[in-house]
Amino acid sequence: MLRVVKNVLNHVQKCNYSLAVPKPHQNPNVLYSGIFINNEWHKSKSGKTFQTINPSTGQVITEIQQGSKEDINLAVDAANEAFKFGSEWRTMDASERGRLLYKLADLMERDGAYLASLETLDNGKPFTQAWSDVVGSINGIRYMAGWADKVHGKTIPMNGKYLAQTRLEPVGVCGQIIPWNFPLLMLSWKIGPALSMGNTVILKPAEQTPLTALYIAELSKEAGFPPGVLNIVPGFGDAGQALVENPKVDKIAFTGSTEVGKHIQSLSGKYNLKRTTLELGGKSPNIILADVDIERAVEYSHHGVFYNSGQVCCAGTRTFIEDKIYDEFVERSVERAKKRIVGDPFDLKTEQGPQVNEEQLEKVLGLIKEGVKQGAKLVHGGKRHGDTGYFIQPTVFADVEDHHIIAKEEIFGPVQQLIRFKDMDEIIERANNTNYGLASAIFSNDINKINYISQGLRAGVVWVNCYNVLEVQTPFGGYKESGFGREMGEYGLQQYTEVKCIITAVPQKNS
Ligand code: TAP
Repeated sequence: MLRVVKNVLNHVQKCNYSLAVPKPHQNPNVLYSGIFINNEWHKSKSGKTFQTINPSTGQVITEIQQGSKEDINLAVDAANEAFKFGSEWRTMDASERGRLLYKLADLMERDGAYLASLETLDNGKPFTQAWSDVVGSINGIRYMAGWADKVHGKTIPMNGKYLAQTRLEPVGVCGQIIPWNFPLLMLSWKIGPALSMGNTVILKPAEQTPLTALYIAELSKEAGFPPGVLNIVPGFGDAGQALVENPKVDKIAFTGSTEVGKHIQSLSGKYNLKRTTLELGGKSPNIILADVDIERAVEYSHHGVFYNSGQVCCAGTRTFIEDKIYDEFVERSVERAKKRIVGDPFDLKTEQGPQVNEEQLEKVLGLIKEGVKQGAKLVHGGKRHGDTGYFIQPTVFADVEDHHIIAKEEIFGPVQQLIRFKDMDEIIERANNTNYGLASAIFSNDINKINYISQGLRAGVVWVNCYNVLEVQTPFGGYKESGFGREMGEYGLQQYTEVKCIITAVPQKNS
């Protein structure tokens, strides 16, 4: 395995990415920087392109065709055509839909190291973590493939003159808008259940990280999906908005900021009452009780904040520590942060790469400054790391108070807030004192305290003695302003079906 990874890395380092992104083992002239509609590559109608940047160096990787409203509308038409009653896709055996998804997963596995290298190049995340995203994405697609022929309706007893049966039908044409922090993984969470349930898709990747989505487009064609079933249109927010405004789109699935999520929700209501699922921001509490195995809690809490350079919606950025162990926890968290390896994401030892772009770098540094200004104690880091690329030092704040901006706003950077608390009732209230409700965690060895606190927390997930454990079988999503609807697991599938009830009059003996 390691040999394969090293070969791909050598290849990636030798490639000239300034022109295009070639498939390594095939025709190097094939471009995956266009707009993918009806299984074909197109240039943008406006003639515009945009650059995608390597955040480790600030250098341009390649030019991407910039989709906008006109391109989105063409993709929506293609997806509607593919969804037409009687089309190849609509009449396909459900098991065959599953088989196509399995085939896609097999192709992702074949090209896994290349996909991971593209992700590292485009997003900056360490190659080892990009590899784990690839594995998670493959598992996700396979899991959803397995459901394709196992979701079905019921017959319902009623008055004997009638027969009632339900069918679970696809919602229709789905617009899917994804962010830049987990480009491939978010794609798999979106297209897996949508295609498994027989919907058609137009996916818009984030402008910062379009490369893996475009590569998947080509793989979907190779897998054999009919034209128009999966369309991928790279572009900016206006392209996403055109999806939301198009009345021929039945559903929007969005992951990103709460601000844009709210905007999408209001627009969806304005145009044709689209179904929406929103996976938005968070400011998750991570509660450490004094009875805990402190070493384990420090390590998990560290990863809970710093993973993916802190660019994680469910990051445990409010670490509440019981008074008795507070000072020791701070000391050990600083020791751990000092050991964190920041640098070249293609180096297999690297734990932390850059932030995704300069805007995020500046935003995070600005919040760190504000934290210091408001009186939180900066105990480690706080500055830019190096002067090339968008790296930030792992940063730890102690003596953080609930009203500090760094304890309230989603930072989306490698910044840990260590907050003191005294008793259990106080902590439930303080943990819930946020507009968000995506994730939470408790570290303790006392089952009664764990049960008590986990029932009181208002969040879509409660991790106990662990953090950031996300598996395809389990639902993920938020309370409050962290959005609604769930992704993954059986709950995630439900967001991609409509229930139709068919009631048939049954001829009676004497009628
Ligand atoms: P957003 O603007 O929310 O971007 C997410 C996606 O929505 C991107 O594909 C984006 O396209 C698209 N988009 C933007 N405006 C839109 C509109 N009016 N209608 C439809 N789609 C639209 O996030 P961001 O600006 O990249 O990051 C800002 C902050 O959001 C971050 O600092 C972080 O706090 C938060 N964030 C949260 C998450 C998660 S997982 N919850 C992920 C990323 C960011 P473009 O990229 O082309 O603009």
